[in-house]
Amino acid sequence: MKAAVFTQYGAPEVLEVKELEKPMPKNNEILVRIKATAVNSGDWRMRKADPFAVRFIFGFTKPKINVLGSVFSGEIESVGEEVKQFKVGDLVFGHIDMSFGAYAEYKCLPENASIALKPANITHTEAAAIPFGGVTALHFMKKTAIKPEQKVLVVGASGAVGSAAVQLAKSFGAQVTGVCSTANIPLVKSIGADKVIDYTREDFTRNGETYDVIFDAVKAINVSRSLKSLNKNGTMILSAAGMPEMLQGLWISMTSSKKVMTGVIGHTAADIIFLKGLIEADKLKPVIDRTYSLAQIAEAHAYVEKGHKKGNVAIEV
Ligand SMILES: NC(=O)c1ccc[n+]([C@@H]2O[C@H](COP(=O)([O-])OP(=O)(O)OC[C@H]3O[C@@H](n4cnc5c(N)ncnc54)[C@H](OP(=O)(O)O)[C@@H]3O)[C@@H](O)[C@H]2O)c1
Repeated sequence: MKAAVFTQYGAPEVLEVKELEKPMPKNNEILVRIKATAVNSGDWRMRKADPFAVRFIFGFTKPKINVLGSVFSGEIESVGEEVKQFKVGDLVFGHIDMSFGAYAEYKCLPENASIALKPANITHTEAAAIPFGGVTALHFMKKTAIKPEQKVLVVGASGAVGSAAVQLAKSFGAQVTGVCSTANIPLVKSIGADKVIDYTREDFTRNGETYDVIFDAVKAINVSRSLKSLNKNGTMILSAAGMPEMLQGLWISMTSSKKVMTGVIGHTAADIIFLKGLIEADKLKPVIDRTYSLAQIAEAHAYVEKGHKKGNVAIEV
């Protein structure tokens, strides 16, 4: 099978399409013929070992995992003897997480991984653009238990996580304000934001508005200054927080009525099934900026790494 392989950390060019042996599913696994995947922050961070700590987990001098790609949509080609929930021919999409491997024509997955049947109303390319931002936003929003009419501010509303956060908050009945650059205002409005703040012209911490939830999806806010825009008992979600923001958040949660949520997300098949339901109910739309072929994977990585993509960058395999 063809796969985009990297055997050393480095620039996008370390990714090369090569022939690898086609995998065989174990008894509890499905073999998916991957039709589409996407390039996300986790992929380019792994590729260039950024932050350096990546090397402690994924290989110090060279990567132990050679095929990236954590999300996919495709068709089940074969199933192991013990598989009960899926059958050959099922169209499925999902999130593979840190075991990666979706930049390839085939991938084996345990049937209880974060997988669901693909919604019939979207293509494989669109389906591959859902899980990364979808499960990240959902993880934090489930913990926050957003209620109807609550005021939610999403910073980075034009990114993968932010565009999902805007749509999920709307689906929970919240009043949503998205923060983005001038060029992305039409996009953020089109996915349902009630109000949009252009961060190049207005600082949300200075306009006197306050919110029940502030969700920073791209590590763009000054945490201390933003606290005054958060209502008493409000929640600040910092999904892209580094260690300093995590410690700062812990301190704020311990010493005030306001709560700060950070940390690494988790997900299950139930989350993907939940997102599927929202897509079928037309409450969650895939946001795709560009689509590349597997052969153009290095180009796709270079673009995503710049940090200005709108929603997601898909790869057709
Ligand atoms: N906690 C977890 O387990 C977890 C899971 C997944 C992802 N993450 C983190 O989430 C981050 C990536 O999120 P993502 O994939 O959603 O990002 P992304 O799609 O790459 O975000 C890019 C978007 O953010 C906008 N943006 C840039 N600067 C901004 C600013 N100052 N204010 C508002 N918008 C701004 C960009 O548009 P403009 O440049 O035009 O403004 C662009 O549309 C990574 O840091 C990753 O580590 C964490």
